[in-house]
Amino acid sequence: MIARELVVVPPIAEEVREGLLSVPKTLPAKLFYDERGSVLFEEITELPEYYLTRTELRILCERAGEISAAAGQVTVVELGAGTAAKSCTLLRPMAKRQLQVHYFPVDISPAALDEAVTRVESECPGTIVRPLVQDFSAGFSFLRKIPGRKLVIYLGSSIGNFEPAAAVEMLTQVRRELSSGDSLLLGTDLAKSPAILIPAYDDAQGVTAAFNKNMLIRLNRELDADFDPENFRHIARWNPRESRMEMHLESLCVQSATIGALRMQVDFDPLERIHTESSYKYTMESVYSLLDQAGYTKPETWTDGQGWFALHLARV
Ligand code: AVJ
Repeated sequence: MIARELVVVPPIAEEVREGLLSVPKTLPAKLFYDERGSVLFEEITELPEYYLTRTELRILCERAGEISAAAGQVTVVELGAGTAAKSCTLLRPMAKRQLQVHYFPVDISPAALDEAVTRVESECPGTIVRPLVQDFSAGFSFLRKIPGRKLVIYLGSSIGNFEPAAAVEMLTQVRRELSSGDSLLLGTDLAKSPAILIPAYDDAQGVTAAFNKNMLIRLNRELDADFDPENFRHIARWNPRESRMEMHLESLCVQSATIGALRMQVDFDPLERIHTESSYKYTMESVYSLLDQAGYTKPETWTDGQGWFALHLARV
């Protein structure tokens, strides 16, 4: 008789194991967004140094009429909608142009989607909201079940967290579920001076540092680990060769941590880093190449006065 133990391994465990066994050590950026991480991220979007959210929102505000005219009569599907804080800016002018706007916010977090529904129903009357709880690692076949001509929106430079090849792959998967005449509205952060970029990822109040270290607190709780966040330093650096901002957690001393759920010990040299996030910063050429490789048409692009952020409307 073989004794069997029922071991429930949390879904994040394997990725954490793989990341911490890599050289250099890495952890996947999606682990930032537990409950506290999502609150910290919302705080980041309001920081004076974090220009991304407000710059994108300004473009949306100023250009929503043009964007919705270019998209035509559509059902709006928002990938990674979160609490849909920016979406009404686009939905409102659409509601003026068409009798009924259908809006499908898609996110991994049911709590965020509840807030999205309440917000859109109150701020954007006449819009029919159908939230979808989806993890993108399960693919995008849910898009097929949404009837009518679609506008898929993916804002906030979320695409920037993917390595270039993975970004092409993700946008290709989305395109394969769409039909001719459907379109994609993509928000991308643009390459600019490190004097602007670095403070955006290393703010004076330390909110981004707390957001980065929260990943260790999450591992302590969910994987029975014993990292001491005080023994790590938040690092934000610009990598010009890859055109990306990087966040790392740097060990301040020789130390070890155990991860109970993985029966694993992790050793750190002083100054050794865990790479927790890459945020790619694009040029118009690099976005056009990305969209082209993923099978979309050359987009129509809107940007802010300083050329810091861009919205692109591409067709399938
Ligand atoms: C939500 C992935 C676009 O990369 O700027 C904010 C996350 N990281 N501060 C970004 C983030 C550090 C953000 N994205």
